[in-house]
Amino acid sequence: MNKYENKQTISFYSVIKALSAAFDLVSDEVSGHHRKTTFLALLIAEEMGISKREIKDLVYASLIHDLGVFYLNQRIADLSFDNNSNLHQEVGYLLLKDYIHRKEIAEIIRYHHVDWKDRLGKSSAGINIPRTSHILHLADRIAVLLENNHNILNQINIIDNIISKLACKKFWPEAVAAFQKLKNQEFIWLTVISPERIVDYLDKLDFIKEEKITLDEFLLIGKSLSHIIDFRSSFTATHSTGIACLAEQMATRYNFDKNDVLKLKIAGFFHDIGKLAIPLRILNKPAQLKNKEYNIIKIHPYYTYQILAQIKEFPMISEWAAFHHEQNNGEGYPFHLAGKDLSQGSKIMSVVDKFTALTEERPYRASLQADKVKYILSNMAEKNEIDEMITTDMLDNYNFYNNIRINKQKESRSYYQEFKKTIASKRDQFII
Ligand SMILES: [Fe+2]
Ligand SMILES: [Fe+2]
Ligand SMILES: [Fe+2]
Repeated sequence: MNKYENKQTISFYSVIKALSAAFDLVSDEVSGHHRKTTFLALLIAEEMGISKREIKDLVYASLIHDLGVFYLNQRIADLSFDNNSNLHQEVGYLLLKDYIHRKEIAEIIRYHHVDWKDRLGKSSAGINIPRTSHILHLADRIAVLLENNHNILNQINIIDNIISKLACKKFWPEAVAAFQKLKNQEFIWLTVISPERIVDYLDKLDFIKEEKITLDEFLLIGKSLSHIIDFRSSFTATHSTGIACLAEQMATRYNFDKNDVLKLKIAGFFHDIGKLAIPLRILNKPAQLKNKEYNIIKIHPYYTYQILAQIKEFPMISEWAAFHHEQNNGEGYPFHLAGKDLSQGSKIMSVVDKFTALTEERPYRASLQADKVKYILSNMAEKNEIDEMITTDMLDNYNFYNNIRINKQKESRSYYQEFKKTIASKRDQFII
């Protein structure tokens, strides 16, 4: 047994760090942005003497602050310095608010683009903007101004000029003053340009690492993240929900203990997290993929593994999540593991992934009829691509599992529709 396995709690920092790394996959334009912003926000907040509790939440929020930008149409352009569209801060807030154990983190993200001069309007409306949102705002804009291809030390004065002119208007003057005290320390800039070194720096901060969450809290974060993964494409808007609920059912059937049932369900929510690396034009292609495109899709379970392996407490979760395209006969991808190397959880995940993909409706086709699904899955079991016993168990109880899937995906579909409506209603408020 892994040394952490019996504790059943997990470092919140390692979860947030893994999510941050996953967001980096979406686009080269945002690669490293979350970590750069985090490092700057942390140093500015420390220089200002902000409390440790607030700094902790600020670090967690900064590591994932632009999560809203990955929703549906990926408005990466929203992140540029002069953009006027701040919808993504509200989307990020909505994606997190019901799922994260510290609501403060969602609140910091919600206001990370509010200009200092506008805060009074907000407070007269009874909204309390966390002061750390203003620090995040400043750090974020500095991070966006940095240009990777020029000597970083030559950029300090240029950045300082831009930022100081905006103190009191855009930025909290005390935060700007703290930045100015720090700006001559070369190590800051030399660290900022290397996201790996930032992670090394953060990894050494015990007060950031000490926060623990329970498996139930981790599950909720998984659910929130599955929305980010699935909502990117309306084709698969409820896919992970289907997998997670069926994985839970099958784990219960095979007498997994209570915690392992939860872990397999979490793995279901996370199993396609690597798809954040797949461009939308491929995810949304309504026709058969060409070989070259299929090779891009094939990257995703590898990334799922790399992302989740960072969460050291429960290595099983990364395996259960990432091995869903492996096959019993060793011809799956990306690790070509054979049945003897695959655990029961991974085999379940593989079967429920296929079952869900075949039975769920896609915008370009209705769900397949039971006979067809049974034919395809039995065929795969016969070729030893998927586990025969698990497949037989599922197919023998086809209606039972299918009804559970249908109900859960229906629930998730209405959440998705509501979410889309809410965002559409807020669009005018945020895009100027
Ligand atoms: Fe942002
Ligand atoms: Fe940002
Ligand atoms: Fe997959």
